[in-house]
Amino acid sequence: MSTIRTEQRGRVGVITLDRPEALNALNDELLADVLAAATAYDRDAGVGAVVITGSERAFAAGADVKAMVGRTPQRNAAEQWMSGWDAFAALGIPKIAAVRGLALGGGCELAMMCDLIIAGDDAQFGQPELALGLIPGLGATQRLTRAVGKARAMDLILTGRRLSATEALEAGLVSRVVPAAEVLETAMAAAATIAGYSAPAVRAARRLIAQAFESPLDEGVAAERAEFYRTFGNADAIEGIAAFVEKRDPDIRHR
Ligand code: CAA
Repeated sequence: MSTIRTEQRGRVGVITLDRPEALNALNDELLADVLAAATAYDRDAGVGAVVITGSERAFAAGADVKAMVGRTPQRNAAEQWMSGWDAFAALGIPKIAAVRGLALGGGCELAMMCDLIIAGDDAQFGQPELALGLIPGLGATQRLTRAVGKARAMDLILTGRRLSATEALEAGLVSRVVPAAEVLETAMAAAATIAGYSAPAVRAARRLIAQAFESPLDEGVAAERAEFYRTFGNADAIEGIAAFVEKRDPDIRHR
C-alpha cells in the first residue's frame, strides 16, 4: 500500500504524504515512495515543479521512531540508512513544501530539503531528536544552521523548542506564511509560476542558489556568470527577449 498520494495539475506534480496513523512519520516505505514519485516528476518534461504536502495536523512528525527499535550502528552503516533522502534533495526539479501542523525532526528536515517552504499559520517546526537520545539525521545540523544561523539552530536542536510559523518566517526558515486554509493553493500557485518559466533556466537558478552555501563567494559568482552566458543559447531566452522587445507574451518551450 502506498504511503503517499500523487496528482499532476498542469505542469505541477503534487506528492501528499499519507500515513495519518503515524502523523506522516518517515519510514523506509515512505522514502521509497517519495523518491520514486519525485524522480519520475524530475524526469518528466511535462512537469516543472513539485509540491510536497502532508495533512492538516502534520506535515510529518519525524522519522518513524517505532521502526528504530533494534537498529544498530552496524546495520545503519551497512544499509546506508536514509541516504535515499540525499538523492531526493539532489533532484534538479524545484520542490516546494506546503506545511500545515507539525514539521518535526525528519519532517522539518524534509521541508528544508525543499527549495521553498510555504507555511500555514498553524505550522510548528522543531528538532526534538535529543529527547530520544539521538541527533538529527536528515541534515538539520547543517541545513537549519545555514537557514537560521548558529544561535537559533543551537537553541532549536539543543532545547527541542518549537518555532511557530511566524517565528520561522522571521528566522528565515520559511519563505511565506499564509492562513492555514490557503497553504496548498498558495504553494500550487507558486509552483505553477515556477513551472511556467523556462525549465533549464529555473533549474540553473535553483542549483546556483543551493551552491551559494557550498562554495566561496567568488566561485559562486563565477559559476553564475558562466551559466548566465550559457542561458543565451537557450531557445527560451532568445524567445523571452524577443517577446519583451515585441511587447507580446513569450512562447516558452522549456528548452
Ligand atoms: N514515529 C512513529 N510514530 C509516530 C511519530 C514518529 N515520529 N510521531 C507520531 N507517531 C504516532 C504516535 O505514536 C501515535 O500512534 P499510536 O496512536 O499508534 O500510538 C500517532 O502517531 C499519533 O501521535 P500522538 O498520539 O503522539 O499525537 P499527539 O498529538 O499526542 O503528539 C507528537 C504529537 C508531539 C508529534 C508526538 O507524536 C511525538 O512526540 N512524536 C515524535 C516526534 C519526534 O520525536 N520526531 C523526531 C523523530 S527522530 C528523527 O526524525 C531523526 C531524524 O532526524 C532523521
